[in-house]
Amino acid sequence: GKFTWVDKDTCIACGACGATAPDIYDYDDEGLAETIYQADGNTGTKEIPEDLFDDLQDAADGCPTDSIKIADEPFNA
Ligand code: F3S
Repeated sequence: GKFTWVDKDTCIACGACGATAPDIYDYDDEGLAETIYQADGNTGTKEIPEDLFDDLQDAADGCPTDSIKIADEPFNA
């Protein structure tokens, strides 16, 4: 599996990730991205299934500030 969260300290609310991977990312009231898959709450603890790996990678590749963090293990575990 894969796990992901967004570093809001560097996100510039460009809006690319939610357009690329709407099942994984959405935006907070300030337009900053966060992970919403299975109500992850931007903790990076919900496992992203394989059928979303392409979206996940495309979103990470498309982020202009490298704010999308991805790992094979849960974050904050
Ligand atoms: Fe922010 Fe990058 Fe998404 S700047 S809105 S995390 S593409």
